[in-house]
Amino acid sequence: MSQKNYKRFLITGGAGFIGAKLALRLAKDLEAQIWVLDNLSPQVHGNNAQHPIFPANINFIHGDIRDRKTVEEIIHQAQPDVIVHMAAETGTGQSMDEISRYCEVNVLGTSILLESIRKNAPNLARLVLPSSRAIYGEGPYRDRENGQIIVPPARNIEAMQAGQFIPTSPQGNQLTAIPATEETPAAPASIYASTKLMQEYLVTQAGVNASWQATILRFQNVYGPGQSLTNPYTGVLSIFSSQILDNQILNIYEDGDIVRDFVFIDDVVTAIELSYQIPLPHGTTINIGSGKPTTILEAAKTLLSIYNKPENTYKITGNFRVGDIRHAVADINQAKTLLSWQPKVSLRQGLEKLGDWCLQRIKSGE
Ligand SMILES: NC(=O)c1ccc[n+]([C@@H]2O[C@H](COP(=O)([O-])OP(=O)(O)OC[C@H]3O[C@@H](n4cnc5c(N)ncnc54)[C@H](O)[C@@H]3O)[C@@H](O)[C@H]2O)c1
Repeated sequence: MSQKNYKRFLITGGAGFIGAKLALRLAKDLEAQIWVLDNLSPQVHGNNAQHPIFPANINFIHGDIRDRKTVEEIIHQAQPDVIVHMAAETGTGQSMDEISRYCEVNVLGTSILLESIRKNAPNLARLVLPSSRAIYGEGPYRDRENGQIIVPPARNIEAMQAGQFIPTSPQGNQLTAIPATEETPAAPASIYASTKLMQEYLVTQAGVNASWQATILRFQNVYGPGQSLTNPYTGVLSIFSSQILDNQILNIYEDGDIVRDFVFIDDVVTAIELSYQIPLPHGTTINIGSGKPTTILEAAKTLLSIYNKPENTYKITGNFRVGDIRHAVADINQAKTLLSWQPKVSLRQGLEKLGDWCLQRIKSGE
């Protein structure tokens, strides 16, 4: 399949962790023109934040995805071939308390973007929506009694208070977790997840009979240099890094065996690029992850060893958060087949890069 070499890009949320990495990579092509729309949310960037230092072919607009006039103007000016719609509120736990804010930014913001595209972007060819594995909720499990595959309901508080963290079937049968494929039925267990699923629906429906095709990428846990070290709502590995460097004892939730699929930022940016360069049918949905399960305890121990801290600088507390998912791992065969993509950076290599970046920031007094 021939890959397209697009030159005009709009990245919403392009000052954020993933968006800024993408913008900077695209800007290496000096013929590319990149527009970034970002409101520099204080939760992510701190108060009085400056946007990242961008080269001349990145046009930064400080504005809000909910502001129709701003979004229409930027699309009119940019006339993008490709839009990557990153702007979002991203804290799973926080979304349970701030429902309207999450719906406004993630759902209303996406609607305004789509209406502005219809009005002002006749040349748009591709739209990439970063969605999330969160839409799978607890994800698929095999019932050990009857072999059936089910997505169990969200775990109940009484069981977790009693230290029973592994989900069971509605009949109480024991379950074994398996990787989520793109066909796993959606079962969002948080407001954040519901808004990401709604974004998928909106983008898919708005693109029917349009000039553009959308690709939906369901990211697993993305980590690496550039992730906010101060946003308490996202990025467990960044949070652990900050805590280790602050000589804190890591608080490991549940029994330490919460499982995540950590995928390194550079691999994710490559997947985004391939997802618009390769012609794919509208609405194609692809998991982007490492495909490998890692327990939170393993990840914490690896980070501690990278920072040369004693291995036991953690405590398994049995604390838990309502709405947290026990096991999240992606089946990435579709990404391998459709994008010829697979992650190149191992967890150890990625955590070393994260560690170097954090130490660098401390040295430079940031
Ligand atoms: N990082 C992950 O592990 C992960 C996993 C799954 C999905 N995603 C998705 O990827 C996308 C990017 O995530 P990220 O990790 O880079 O997050 P991030 O918080 O670093 O970046 C999001 C950016 O959006 C901006 N933003 C927030 N509200 C805005 C608004 N109202 N108007 C304009 N800009 C606004 C923020 O200032 C920030 O720069 C999000 O859509 C997120 O849902 C991320």
